[in-house]
Amino acid sequence: MRLSIVILAAGQGTRMRSDLPKVLQPLAGKPLLAHVLECSRELGADDICVVYGHGAEAVQDAIDDEALRWALQTEQLGTGHAMQQAMPGTPDDNRVLVLFGDVPLLLPATLAVLLGETPLDDMAVLTVDMEDPTGYGRVIRENGSVSRIVEEKDASSSEKGVREINTGVMLCPAIRLKRWLDNLSNDNAQGEYYLTDIIAMAVNDKVRVHGIKAGSSVEVMGINDKKQLAEAERALQARLVDELMQQGVGFADPARVDIRGTLTCGKEVFIDVNAVFEGDVELGDGTVVESNNLVRDSKLGRGTLLHSNCHVEGATTGSNCEIGPFSRLRPGAELKDNVKVGNFVEIKKSVVDDGSKVNHLTYIGDAEIGKAVNVGAGTITCNYDGANKFKTRIGDGAFIGSGVELVAPVEIGEGATIGAGSTITKPTPADKLTLERAKQFTVQGWKKPVKGGKK
Ligand code: UD1
Ligand code: CA
Repeated sequence: MRLSIVILAAGQGTRMRSDLPKVLQPLAGKPLLAHVLECSRELGADDICVVYGHGAEAVQDAIDDEALRWALQTEQLGTGHAMQQAMPGTPDDNRVLVLFGDVPLLLPATLAVLLGETPLDDMAVLTVDMEDPTGYGRVIRENGSVSRIVEEKDASSSEKGVREINTGVMLCPAIRLKRWLDNLSNDNAQGEYYLTDIIAMAVNDKVRVHGIKAGSSVEVMGINDKKQLAEAERALQARLVDELMQQGVGFADPARVDIRGTLTCGKEVFIDVNAVFEGDVELGDGTVVESNNLVRDSKLGRGTLLHSNCHVEGATTGSNCEIGPFSRLRPGAELKDNVKVGNFVEIKKSVVDDGSKVNHLTYIGDAEIGKAVNVGAGTITCNYDGANKFKTRIGDGAFIGSGVELVAPVEIGEGATIGAGSTITKPTPADKLTLERAKQFTVQGWKKPVKGGKK
């Protein structure tokens, strides 16, 4: 039987107290909804439908997936009403798996069990026992099977004592689901069409409802407010770090690292506290990331040492580079092998070739720096005239003295030496010393100003 997945994602998420639709709230750097979609794709569904409504445009813009079917729910009248919107395009012969856009930590393996254990004509609900079930729908069983689900706001005090809750995940043959959804009413405490009411209808029609328990309550946690969002973030981070530790990555403290994207690590990688990885980051064999680093969409080559307090974005390094402390590598910074970049150095859209050093207080932008170049403290590539950007080229083995301004476009010859304090505007010859400097002189008869002196 083919599988349709319907993801309910139209709700506003009032409890978030945010202008951003709930399903776009970020978890590990991605919208909640993107996590649910990823899980759905892994299950290999034939048809995935997202029911959207609140923040419709923002939600569609944020999700870049052309194969999706979208069903608009213009008014959010409850989870049952949301499901009704998805039914027109859902083939009658399919099984329908319902997922919630605000239950993002679900693992495909858990859903595979649900799909595997439920006979094709039956219905199933994924449940879990919660220490504190407050806020969730309670699962009421009779003779082992589920007989109904009662929402917190409609529950009697004895029903509130039930700790088995509805995770929101349901599985049902489409043909039956359509019939039951047509018969929902909103006669309840919240005046909403509850999807959960179809359970009692199923029981009435003598369709068995299997209550299948998930292994952990963390996995099925529903995110309704910022506190739950933060809890889910920590839980997901723990999961990501666990996977990396199993591959042999060392962490000074697994609780003090954040991965907001995909972190791929080689062997013998060590990561100290408060490192944040965003987007796609690759760390080669033997790389060390010291404390307080932000690394976004970058690739650090084998044996690279990233000292504390760096900001690295869209950069690549070859092997055995040493960066920081306090360096900033911006998009297009490409360091080859054995390059050293020191404190308060900013590098943008530039190639720095093997063995070169840019150690102190320097800005390198739109430059090509050759091999074994030494860039002195306080060097600046003046790459921008207020309208256009220009390139600086520095040949192999050149030595740039301290405090040099290289006014681009400009080229420094191989092996050239540039005297400290020079403002270079013209090409400089290879292997020669070039200086640009006013003659030093001392003003005769000059007097130090004194307080209360002549105005
Ligand atoms: C729901 C369940 C509850 C379950 C809990 C699990 C119902 C009636 N209740 O309650 O039994 O324990 O989830 O987390 O189903 N949505 C829409 N359109 C709407 C309303 C909601 O698309 O009109 C979407 C929301 O965007 C959200 C999901 O459905 O992704 C759940 O809605 P929410 O309002 O959070 O339901 P809960 O009160 O948490
Ligand atoms: Ca919810």
